[in-house]
Amino acid sequence: MWGGRFSGKPAELMQAINVSIGFDKRLSSQDLAGSRAHAAMLRTTGVISSEDEAAIQAGLETIAGEIADGTFPFRDEFEDIHMNVEARLRELIGPAAGRLHTARSRNDQVALDFRMWVREACDRTHGQIRALQKALIAKAEAHADAVMPGFTHLQPAQPVTFGHHLMAYVEMFGRDAARFADARARMNESPLGAAALAGSPFPIDRAQTAKALGFDRPTANSLDSVADRDFALESLAAATICATHLSRLAEEIVIWMTPQFGFIRLSDAFTTGSSIMPQKKNPDAAELVRAKVGRLLGSFTQLTVVMKGLPLTYSKDMQEDKVPTFEAFDALELSLLAMAGMVADLEPNREKMAAAAGAGYSTATDLADWLVRELNLPFRDAHHVTGAAVKKAEELGVGLEGVPLSDLQALDARITASIYDVLTPEASVASRRSYGGTAPDQVRAQIKRWKEVLA
Ligand code: ARG
Repeated sequence: MWGGRFSGKPAELMQAINVSIGFDKRLSSQDLAGSRAHAAMLRTTGVISSEDEAAIQAGLETIAGEIADGTFPFRDEFEDIHMNVEARLRELIGPAAGRLHTARSRNDQVALDFRMWVREACDRTHGQIRALQKALIAKAEAHADAVMPGFTHLQPAQPVTFGHHLMAYVEMFGRDAARFADARARMNESPLGAAALAGSPFPIDRAQTAKALGFDRPTANSLDSVADRDFALESLAAATICATHLSRLAEEIVIWMTPQFGFIRLSDAFTTGSSIMPQKKNPDAAELVRAKVGRLLGSFTQLTVVMKGLPLTYSKDMQEDKVPTFEAFDALELSLLAMAGMVADLEPNREKMAAAAGAGYSTATDLADWLVRELNLPFRDAHHVTGAAVKKAEELGVGLEGVPLSDLQALDARITASIYDVLTPEASVASRRSYGGTAPDQVRAQIKRWKEVLA
């Protein structure tokens, strides 16, 4: 490509470190789309003739076919996807191929291709998050009233419902989807036409190519256009946060699956056995989803370090932007799909969850609230009385509902038998009707709202 200036060949090691076709072939479809829009614009602005444009378009069409059917010759000696396409175009249509690169550089070309790839990845991911949310909502709806322990410090805290717990993740993934949508909106400007870094002396129409490629507008600064990779960084940050949420849910699935908890069952579809212990059923998919966040954060860190301190504008360092980004989205998408599968697959054991919901004096706060409501005790005093009631229950080896009324009345003579009404997990969750609370009717209201959002 630059034979005019060079008389020697690159060293083999130079080619080895320089070549990117092995990974940037994933930009093929974006590269072709960019070239087609660029060629059409060069023709409408009179920079190239209609005949040359027609030949270029036909050649690019042939190349698209070759890539689709696996016959396109990806060659290391042409370094990257941009030069592979151009070299092949020359073989197919001859000298007219040389006009395609007018008013364009690989710098704006790769910025464009990569931006379009990340934009598509954000859109795909957004769709996969929505699918996961729908799976969570369906499960939440089926179990909106199934009581389970709510935890803080992984200690039983207050009873909640399984539907409420799942809907907490619907909120998290909702913010993740919004982050991808925001990133997409911000990145949706076309760098094509920034050329090498300074813009072009040709009468190009950047608005035309921007529109043809689905961008809202062209980027406003040619230096920034070829130097910017923060669209990728922002997407990787969003991806890392999303993977963090996935790992938390994955961890809960792992815990819930243990025989000690026994809150859920996963079918054979998302578990594996052991080669030595015949009784085992392991939540491998959940464990792998839990682990993937390491890759995501690794990718984000990798690209941040590549970009840090780079002077404007393009430096070859930036070729190292693609592998971490591809890997991150591959890992995230697989995790989202696997998690949606697991959520649809899992079956809660309602009896086991209900039994655990009442354990650990989880309705102690309800007892204290009863004292506040019925006896007008200050909450701090009620807290103290309740602590004494828990101590008594512990001595007697019973739950709070098993402490005889006489023992409760020894703590405060005004306590009546109606206090037992609030001591079941069902009564506890039903009472928490504040907006966003765990009462089944509140949970159902949020399910309804989300269904409307996702409709
Ligand atoms: N393969 C290069 C990359 O991925 C394309 C841009 C090359 N530009 C250049 N001036 N060498 O970044």
